[in-house]
Amino acid sequence: GDPGTDTLRTPIVAVLGHVDHGKTSLLDKVRGSAVIEGEAGAITQHIGATAVPLDVISDIAGSLVDPTDFDLPGLLFIDTPGHHSFTTLRSRGGALADIAILVVDVNDGFQPQTIEALDILKRTQTPFVVAANKVDTLPGWNPVEDAPIQQSMETQSDRVQQQLNQELYEIVGELSDHGFSADMYWQVRNFQQNVGVVPVSAMTGEGVPDLLTVMMGLAQRYMKEEMQVDVGGPGVGTVLEVKEEKGFGTTVDIVLYDGTIRADDVIVVGGENNPIVTEVRALLQPRPLAEIRTESRFEQVDEVMAAAGIKVAAPDLDEAMSGAPIRVVRDRPVEEVEREVRSE
Ligand code: GTP
Ligand code: MG
Repeated sequence: GDPGTDTLRTPIVAVLGHVDHGKTSLLDKVRGSAVIEGEAGAITQHIGATAVPLDVISDIAGSLVDPTDFDLPGLLFIDTPGHHSFTTLRSRGGALADIAILVVDVNDGFQPQTIEALDILKRTQTPFVVAANKVDTLPGWNPVEDAPIQQSMETQSDRVQQQLNQELYEIVGELSDHGFSADMYWQVRNFQQNVGVVPVSAMTGEGVPDLLTVMMGLAQRYMKEEMQVDVGGPGVGTVLEVKEEKGFGTTVDIVLYDGTIRADDVIVVGGENNPIVTEVRALLQPRPLAEIRTESRFEQVDEVMAAAGIKVAAPDLDEAMSGAPIRVVRDRPVEEVEREVRSE
């Protein structure tokens, strides 16, 4: 059916931060899967996308959220590489984001790509929170699996609490040095004016309920108007990767960030030389909670609404490029859409 204009778009959450600070691990914890185990040298080298439905967020967040407070369909998480050589991919992730999580290793503090990520968020004016990750590695930490962070902090010894607070206030200080007023998330009233810091562990799950609650709240409170777009309109997206898929030939993994794409749409994709005009042969949707980058089982669907990670099979995609725009033509002159794609 036609999704119409009263359907809210899924917000896109970019996960940014220095190499090894735990971006993929945090998403693994939310997915309940282990994507990093499949990564060469455990270094992320591509942008990923994972759709997390509202009911999963509510399950993880537990008592911290009331799901009836939310009418957004969930969150689409974009994983980015932290290694210094992937600046372009970080910028692309930042450009896609409605909101973001800046992951900082609580022991390691701010590092070069933390600052680079911060600059991207500043430039794109993306509201974000800081996940102060790896709290479980503080000496003497007593893990409370999957607990809300304040609950877990109360059970720590005075010495551990002091150590944690010291590390957290160093992060707050670094943020302030870069022009952001920040505080522990439970002290923050307005998440657009102040950056909330959420202590977490991707390993033990502590603080993950808090992180999801804050992201959902941030999206619901400040992004809702921007999410009230015409998701029934012609789809617009970005190519993440160009890949061979058995039985489908060359396909593109995309993040659809606006509108709708249908299985019979004519599309224009940015190519090495000229925009490629082609017709969708199949839309292949990853399972809920699956990372599109590593997914092997896709469901063929007739229609996908933003925001979503989706694999598009179509003829003539050999010259498509990662990072290129993709646009659905629908009822417009194809030349007009080609011009749009060329100018992006
Ligand atoms: P890049 O994608 O390469 O930028 O790294 P990343 O930020 O995705 O880091 P990743 O999730 O791959 O984690 C790096 C290492 O830190 C892995 O060995 C993880 O197991 C470990 N790690 C991540 N989060 C935690 C945590 O909360 N606690 C502990 N103890 N280890 C963690
Ligand atoms: Mg990673």
